Amino acid sequence: MEVVQVPFGEPWTMSDIVTEAPLNRHVSWQGLEHDVTPTGEFFCRNHNDFPEPPAILDWAGHPLTPAELAAMSQVEYLVTLECAGNGRTEFKPVPKGTPWGIRGLSTGRFRGVAVETLLREFPPSSEAKHVIFRGADRGEDGLYERSLTFDEIGRHRALVALEMNGKALPLQHGAPFRLIVPHYYAMTSVKWLCQAEYSPTASVGYYQIEDYLVDYQDGTPIRPATLMRPKSILVSPAEGETVRGIVSIHGKVWSGESHVSGVELELRGAGADRLLVARLGDDLGPFAWRSFHAEVQLAPGSYSVTSFCLTDQERQPKKARWNAQGYENNSAHRVAFQVG
Ligand code: MTE
Repeated sequence: MEVVQVPFGEPWTMSDIVTEAPLNRHVSWQGLEHDVTPTGEFFCRNHNDFPEPPAILDWAGHPLTPAELAAMSQVEYLVTLECAGNGRTEFKPVPKGTPWGIRGLSTGRFRGVAVETLLREFPPSSEAKHVIFRGADRGEDGLYERSLTFDEIGRHRALVALEMNGKALPLQHGAPFRLIVPHYYAMTSVKWLCQAEYSPTASVGYYQIEDYLVDYQDGTPIRPATLMRPKSILVSPAEGETVRGIVSIHGKVWSGESHVSGVELELRGAGADRLLVARLGDDLGPFAWRSFHAEVQLAPGSYSVTSFCLTDQERQPKKARWNAQGYENNSAHRVAFQVG
């Protein structure tokens, strides 16, 4: 099997790599079997080369070391991170941008200090309305920075993470500190966090005002990508697989802020078209995906299955709307398979 050696951890199979420099990789299919993605399998999205990890975090003028942050009260939760460009190459025509397939997401256990705790400890002035979060990496589009309003920070329980899956954050995921913003597409979760500035206005950095915009180019106002759209991915059966005996259909389902209420599976083929309702796996908390499962006995033949996330408000669309930067592609995932 072709592998690529990265400057840390395990070698990765080439099939998961999206681009080698800067390094972008999908979660492996195997990694999608777990509720919590093992760190070595976690998808990775970088705009620039890895920077030197910052020694301190400048929090509104207060220098904080990792030890000082670790001594503050900690929160821990499971959070699903999905890249806003996940699924870009499934749009036709394929929009320009990093050519993500459908595995630009993972779920980690993140532990650190709630941003609200830091806001209480270091109170902003009355003019401040936003926090601008800066990463230590820089490329031709400037420093990586994103901002959030105080309201967004509280509503989505953003945290400054020091640990991922029970260990110190590894370099590729933003050591020694990163922002984690549950519910939002993961471009907001700034890695290698080196500065947080209180500001009366939002960031005017490239990644805030030029990139991560959902632009339908049909007169619809351009808007920023924020909450993850309802979505699901089928992990089994695999595309083109021949299955024998009872067919096990399973995958992962998630949505931004809205509650996932179920998963529908549209099964077609061999005169057996039907709609199945999947069972949901364990509830992993308000910020994480859930697994779903169904078993079905089918006569030999060719089939396809398509999964749809259901939330309190909507059903995942069969086909998401194309947009110029290729964001928010939550088209339903369809897999063709054979029963032997
Ligand atoms: N933070 C910095 N400093 N630089 C980056 O390039 N990429 C963002 C976000 N934070 C990025 C960043 C994007 S687009 C995504 S999808 C997530 O990090 C990916 O997080 P991961 O690599 O830990 O999976």
